Amino acid sequence: MLMDVTVTGFDDVGDLLVLPLFEGVEKAPNNALAGLARTQRSLVNDALASDSFTGKAGKRLAVWTPGCQVILVGMGSDPSDKACRDTGSKTLAALSKDHGTNITVRFTKGWNTNQMVLFSEGMLLRDYAFDQYMQKEEEEDDWNLAVQASPRHQKELSSSVSDAAAIATGVHVARDVCNEPPNVMFPDEYAKRALAWAEGKSNVEVEVWDYARLQKEGMHGVIAVGKGSEKKPCMVFFRLNPNADKGKQVPCIVGKGITFDTGGISLKPGAGMDEMKYDMGGSATVFGLFVALHATGHKGRVNGITCMAENMPSSNAYRPGDVIDTYSGKTIEVLNTDAEGRNVLADGLWKACELDPAYIVDLATLTGACVVALGHEASGLWSNDDDLSAAIHAAGNAEDEIAWPMPLLPAFAKEMTGSKIADVRNLGKGRYGGACTAAGFLNQFVQDREDGEQIPWAHMDIAGTAWGATTNATVAHGASGVHVRTLHRLITQCR
Ligand code: BES
Ligand code: MN
Ligand code: ZN
Repeated sequence: MLMDVTVTGFDDVGDLLVLPLFEGVEKAPNNALAGLARTQRSLVNDALASDSFTGKAGKRLAVWTPGCQVILVGMGSDPSDKACRDTGSKTLAALSKDHGTNITVRFTKGWNTNQMVLFSEGMLLRDYAFDQYMQKEEEEDDWNLAVQASPRHQKELSSSVSDAAAIATGVHVARDVCNEPPNVMFPDEYAKRALAWAEGKSNVEVEVWDYARLQKEGMHGVIAVGKGSEKKPCMVFFRLNPNADKGKQVPCIVGKGITFDTGGISLKPGAGMDEMKYDMGGSATVFGLFVALHATGHKGRVNGITCMAENMPSSNAYRPGDVIDTYSGKTIEVLNTDAEGRNVLADGLWKACELDPAYIVDLATLTGACVVALGHEASGLWSNDDDLSAAIHAAGNAEDEIAWPMPLLPAFAKEMTGSKIADVRNLGKGRYGGACTAAGFLNQFVQDREDGEQIPWAHMDIAGTAWGATTNATVAHGASGVHVRTLHRLITQCR
């Protein structure tokens, strides 16, 4: 559960008082110590007057006072948006619950509202642990956060902080479903959780196509990948505000949901295979995005599709050499069963096109090659539409979830359509440019509109960003829930 947040003036102080201060402070700014006793104030002022704390970026000093820990947080002189958010995250991570769980953060001299929101957002995002499978001596209480600022900030601060909290809830849902171990989180379980979330929400619909329905519809891309597992594949459709925007084209977000990727018959090496539970990161982001959009009260219609399957080797598994008759009618020659994400997305993308969307964004932990190219610092971004690409790139920058433009070159598409026996092949001719050839493959499953132009589409390879970035201050470890915030911003503010 996300911590409780309230926005108030400079009233009561909790068990911990966080004072983020700019470089060069020598004494407590106005209101910073309101409500503290004289002895407490003098302890803090002594610390501020000393050389031990100067407000330098990245520095923190905890000052013990009777009844209240005061944490001085250095912000430097002109912190970037990222620095404000990250410092909020790092500060929360450093707090201990030993002396109570009521945090008061006071924004005083020099803070603007936007910076306050970002710092608070950082705290909210970092307030996450996936620890339900560990025995605990006693249940810990949740944090309570009181954000305090002068009256002129409060209205905007209060509404922005509550939006940030709503979006953080979505990010945390995305992390949760992705962090779940693969024996718990398989296709039907994901579907069950999506249905449970939709239950009782009048403006949300979740529809699940089970294995039988997939067969009836001819979703053989998803079926081929998932049939080797006892845990059968499914597709999950999310609809927010299904009755709004009648006759209007609306966004459709598609997610790769491989709940575990062994590679199938083209088995992966053993080392690190446990991490392949996060191969459903795309579908996790889609789920989290809908939670976030619903929680912030988004009024527009939005569609989501997730392609859920477990990629297992078995006597019933698909094989290298198989030809899949996908939902689109195009056939795929399977040359490597470990290139499975693109096979399920072929069906998901084609289905998305049938909804006549304004644009499609797919998210997928698609290739190791993307991690080679961009590390854990940026998602790869491919698009057939420069405006859409620019909007996603800008939204990503604003949220510090970098999406880096990569080329959708005809040569990559050509490499993937060069099969001798099928319409497309699921493997490039060599290993170079593996993230780009994968994008070239996906592009084959985006339909044209009636005017012959392709539907605007963007592909985000999140193999490096959905998991494992030690440089991401907003997450301790494990799944990041990356791009819930990017896409929330894209959909609510950009297009
Ligand atoms: N899920 C993997 C990609 C991946 C690798 C995600 C590392 C996260 C971290 C994907 O299904 C895969 O196995 N891709 C292959 C494609 C290859 C066979 C063309 C890869 O990247 O090696
Ligand atoms: Mn794979
Ligand atoms: Zn995979």
